[in-house]
Amino acid sequence: MSGADYKKVTTHALLEMKQRGEKISMLTAYDFSFAKIIDDANIDVVLVGDSASNVMAGHVSTLPITLDQMIYHAQSVIRAIDRALVVVDLPFGSYQGNSKEALNSAIRIMKESGAHAIKLEGGEEVLESVKRILSAGIPVMGHLGLTPQSIFKFGTYSVRAKEEAEADKLRADARLLEDAGCFGVVLEKIPAKLATQVTKSLNIPVIGIGAGAGVDGQVLVLHDLIGLTKEFNPRFLRRYLNLYDDVKGAVENYIADVKSKDFPNEEEQY
Ligand code: KIV
Repeated sequence: MSGADYKKVTTHALLEMKQRGEKISMLTAYDFSFAKIIDDANIDVVLVGDSASNVMAGHVSTLPITLDQMIYHAQSVIRAIDRALVVVDLPFGSYQGNSKEALNSAIRIMKESGAHAIKLEGGEEVLESVKRILSAGIPVMGHLGLTPQSIFKFGTYSVRAKEEAEADKLRADARLLEDAGCFGVVLEKIPAKLATQVTKSLNIPVIGIGAGAGVDGQVLVLHDLIGLTKEFNPRFLRRYLNLYDDVKGAVENYIADVKSKDFPNEEEQY
């Protein structure tokens, strides 16, 4: 059995992939069209990330996006999905207050979008919320390391957990999340050696972004991978296309054709 054989990817399927050493593929999507393409390509996990705040809405951080907006994106994505597991980010402000608020936010996402799981940022600080959401039967994915919702505390988007104290806390948080019952954890922008250690110490799948090759799977923001974003160039990003330039070139050609009256031609009219 390989990942491609799953008709529907479940949290259990991800665990099986980890157990047999098959890497898990995960990408973001925020809309129907791209979600359809990546699901048809057999991506294992689709993340409706709060990076929609940057990528779709043009904000400088993930903080402004609202729960209603995340639900809108998740509904659009879910309509396109046949196979992948769809995980939706709880946005900033929808779970940090208390565990009841966290549960209500998670329930709204599951009920109103039809998503399969939620993801939230943090370890010990959000543990009570994680447990309460899990107790309602909602699968939870953790997110440690560079957690963009805390960017104003960190001050920069640089690599996290380089110091031993922060690395120790990350190891402990990862263990707490697994013990609480999370089905997986994202590790963002931490040293590869630390990510490998954490991955080996956990039974649940660990998905990395800027966390090296020793994790159980990789996640990227789709818009970065296909080169729709131009300014974001971290070392961990591999671009497979340069769509920004391609789309811009196509639009320039279209404008030129309209201006020169080349478009539409005889065949392109009724
Ligand atoms: O919102 C997002 O895109 C994410 C990934 C970077 C993991 O959380």
